[in-house]
Amino acid sequence: CILVLDFGSQYAQLIARRVREQNVYCRIVRHDLSAERIAELKPKGIILSGGPSSVYAEGAPRCDPKLFELGIPVLGICYGMQLMCEALGGQVEHTLTREYGRASLSIGEERQLFAGLPETMDVWMSHGDQVSGIGEVFDSLAATDTCPYAAIAHQQLPIFGMQFHPEVTHTPLGSQVLHNFVIGVCGCEGTWHLSDFADSLIDQVRQQVGQRRVICGLSGGVDSSVVAALLYKAIGAQLTCILIDNGLLRKDEQSAVISEFTNHFKADLRVVDAEDQFLDALKGIDEPQEKRRRIGAAFIECFQAEAESIEDAHFLAQGTLYPDVIESGAAADGPAATIKLHHNVGGLPEKLGFELIEPLRDLFKDEVRRLGEELGLPPALVWRHPFPGPGLAVRCLGEITREKLDVLREADEIVVNEIKAAGLYRQTSQSFAVLLPVQSVGVMGDARTYENAVAIRSVNTDDFMTADWSRLPYELLAKMSTRIINEVKGVNRVCYDISSKPPATIEWE
Ligand code: XMP
Repeated sequence: CILVLDFGSQYAQLIARRVREQNVYCRIVRHDLSAERIAELKPKGIILSGGPSSVYAEGAPRCDPKLFELGIPVLGICYGMQLMCEALGGQVEHTLTREYGRASLSIGEERQLFAGLPETMDVWMSHGDQVSGIGEVFDSLAATDTCPYAAIAHQQLPIFGMQFHPEVTHTPLGSQVLHNFVIGVCGCEGTWHLSDFADSLIDQVRQQVGQRRVICGLSGGVDSSVVAALLYKAIGAQLTCILIDNGLLRKDEQSAVISEFTNHFKADLRVVDAEDQFLDALKGIDEPQEKRRRIGAAFIECFQAEAESIEDAHFLAQGTLYPDVIESGAAADGPAATIKLHHNVGGLPEKLGFELIEPLRDLFKDEVRRLGEELGLPPALVWRHPFPGPGLAVRCLGEITREKLDVLREADEIVVNEIKAAGLYRQTSQSFAVLLPVQSVGVMGDARTYENAVAIRSVNTDDFMTADWSRLPYELLAKMSTRIINEVKGVNRVCYDISSKPPATIEWE
């Protein structure tokens, strides 16, 4: 296992994912974990992440300096490298201008960390401070025009540092650098495979559950489907799934989820038709937060009523993922909670009276998708774009009515189908339609119209915390627009949303 010590970097999770891509298990832990505890965990290597602080700032996060004496290979990235230098006898200095962006790295003779790489390569820099002296302690391995110590190695110990970020896609050959560290330097075997991991998860679930019954909410999304597939494989008929149709689903979604489910599992599925209950709760409400609150409350009420009718239910399965566990501060030895930017409506409170079972809590989203494929779920389900818990309510601006939802469902279906037909579904992260609370004048035939406007939203993102709008081809946008205006009754205008996140969000409410 490799440990990533998290110094508050926005990239700590990315580092862990990149290491796992080398088939090496990797965990994120607190930056101040004691050297004794680290030794107990027996990692083959340690990575010190970047971070927003300056090593000289008061209260700057530090690691236990004794970890450098454990004989375990260490790689410090950006802030991690500066910290390591400061602890072991180098100097760090504040640069007046923050260096941010692409740089060309020239690599020297010593090649252990750069094996198999060209003499120069593009790397991504993002730092204020940088190492200005390495004394007699380190050797310089690589430099850029502005950064003389862009990569360094300790003269005696297996300790390395790099100022650039090998984990981001803007360092195109960064994976090879991480490979060289975890396989070449740390001696990891690279034999951690998701399928083995799945087998051990299935064993764990069987042990935890015994002969008891597990209930699992099914939303049609990737996470809950993979949880259900895994549980079904582990405990078969002891699983009951609950699908709540809140009337805010996409076109034909209920029947699609049911047929996908019945094609794959023989488990018990309860479908709760709760459209009226949700639409009643939303009547007259146009304030976005209040809409979310009411949907959340109705969901809990519905789920609880259904769950209580399943007499022998003991466990509640949840599709909690590793990023949620890390950000909530609940990981063993993990970093403290970070402020969650996320408004998780469509989830369940912890105190429903069931024991929780969270089989995906060690996995990243892309790993969950791969696991889904290994468990035999169809690619169309595994690669489905995420859909928010409050459903179309956050895409149907203002007050919700069944009629407006129907208009939105038709427009949304056209957007998604056209993206798929253009072969762009897997290349975009989320694509959908939004019904605006705006009417505008148009002309159809010889008649004046005064009808609704629809916005098309399509974004590309790695983590949904930041996102850029997809550069969809004009021809595709033209086709969507023509089809929506011709085929969806009540819409006479279509716009394309060209805002990135931040400052906009992905959803419109
Ligand atoms: P925003 O709009 O905040 O969305 O940029 C980021 C991602 O989160 C999804 N989202 C939600 N998911 N419950 C969910 O389960 C919610 O209340 C919720 N709100 C937003 C959104 O679809 C996007 O993928």
